[in-house]
Amino acid sequence: MRVLAFLDGTLGDPSQPYVRVDNTGVLRGDGIFETVLVVDGKPRELGPHLDRLAKSAAMLDLPEPDLELWEQAAQQVIDNWEGSSEIAVKLVATRGSEGDPDAEPFGYALGMEIDEKVKRARTEGIGVVTLDRGFGPDVAERAPWLLLGAKTLSYAVNLAALREAGRRGADDVIFTATDGSVLEGPTSTVLVAKGRTLYTPPPTVGILPGTTQRSVFRAAEAAGWTVKMEPVPGGELAMADGVFLASSVRKVTRVHTLDGVALADSTAVHAELCEAYEAQYA
Ligand SMILES: Cc1ncc(COP(=O)(O)O)c(C=O)c1O
Repeated sequence: MRVLAFLDGTLGDPSQPYVRVDNTGVLRGDGIFETVLVVDGKPRELGPHLDRLAKSAAMLDLPEPDLELWEQAAQQVIDNWEGSSEIAVKLVATRGSEGDPDAEPFGYALGMEIDEKVKRARTEGIGVVTLDRGFGPDVAERAPWLLLGAKTLSYAVNLAALREAGRRGADDVIFTATDGSVLEGPTSTVLVAKGRTLYTPPPTVGILPGTTQRSVFRAAEAAGWTVKMEPVPGGELAMADGVFLASSVRKVTRVHTLDGVALADSTAVHAELCEAYEAQYA
């Protein structure tokens, strides 16, 4: 099941081609996207996703997106969906056609089913490997043109890291900086529980600010947790009471194994955080 909606309010046929071969998104990955989770017809964190879309657009010097049109396109997808109760709605925008002076930015919303493997991982947990991203934690400030805090379409590196995880017998990745500190997953934010405190690294270390992380922090804080956004030394992962990868489609997924070594059993902490997170949307 797939539903495609354009920004002019029309629906498309997702099995048909609409993207020109000279589109900058195809030629150079020069564009931005968001993935919004929709459960039972209700989008989660749509406002923060749209805000981040606008921020990514600004970082790439793309025209300011008309967020009302994007919201309408997402709603069109939801209104025409006949699949399962959960939808991953991708909002995709590229600069347009390369070398065409009249090129308009190109954008669409595409609703897709969520991968069964992702859904299974929510309950079964995952094994993760740490991989060096090769940058220091100050890179975002020193080299903002690397666009580390933007959600760009250039995900080839992220996907390569996931394949490397597969070669090492793991399901996912936690990137580390050259000083060993924790960054993020290729498609997720890292959350670390120690006692009743939840940690995540700050976006200033060169990571994407996560909408799910923000939501989980809000819920955890309301449930009596202390939440801290601060640098997380790599050594903290093995000693934590819980390590989780958070993202819109995976929600909060428990890491049970890190670099081949079993972590502390975090099933109870995981259950508590998931309950608090879900309760916000009940
Ligand atoms: C690099 C990266 N970090 C973090 C996230 C999590 O963001 P969100 O919780 O807003 O889905 C994603 C989502 O795909 C991502 O690609």
